Amino acid sequence: MERIPAHPIEPHFVERWSPRAFTGETLTPAEMHRLFEAARWAPSSNNRQPWRFVYGLRGTPAFTAIFDLLVPFNQIWTAQASALIAVFAKTKSDSGEEWRTASFDTGAAWMSLALQAHAQGLITHGMAGILADKMNEALSAPSDWLPQCIVAVGRRGAPDQLPEKLRERENPSDREPLSALVFEGSAAAAVKP
Ligand SMILES: Cc1cc2nc3c(=O)[nH]c(=O)nc-3n(C[C@H](O)[C@H](O)[C@H](O)COP(=O)(O)O)c2cc1C
Repeated sequence: MERIPAHPIEPHFVERWSPRAFTGETLTPAEMHRLFEAARWAPSSNNRQPWRFVYGLRGTPAFTAIFDLLVPFNQIWTAQASALIAVFAKTKSDSGEEWRTASFDTGAAWMSLALQAHAQGLITHGMAGILADKMNEALSAPSDWLPQCIVAVGRRGAPDQLPEKLRERENPSDREPLSALVFEGSAAAAVKP
């Protein structure tokens, strides 16, 4: 489907989407650094910057370690990704203070990364289909890092390399109308009778 925004916005918001067909090409360290640099500048509560990333480039043991943390459905198509990024939110300060907005802040950083990737001609695909319980141990992450998702990054490949069921889904999706999401003054209209 063609994505047509209901109000004028910057084109990258609708141009970015999450394909599953990757070419498997190598990404350079410079390309990776630009993604994380964009994420670094995301806003966060008290400027805590609770996002944490552990990544692996295709063909390395680090990639395999992150790949092994994906559910089988996600492994089908991420084998051709150029890099996998495990995203964590650090949920506490080093002195143990709870950081309530850690996930919210980390979501902002992931979106910055995704939009930067789009600007670099790359595609990203976030995945919650992960073995979250195993992620800290497998990647030697501290226990106060809460697994959020794994992100596949790479260059867009031809959809015909995908199994048929996934090929049919290789299209940008639509969104709910603003009227279902945004309420002026009160959310009473959102309450189902
Ligand atoms: C946190 C998060 C988890 C997701 N988990 C998966 C997943 O496990 N597998 C998958 O194929 N897509 C996954 N997606 C992709 C979403 O289905 C996709 O972003 C959504 O349908 C909107 O489509 P778009 O990103 O193409 O605009 C996930 C996306 C996000 C942001």
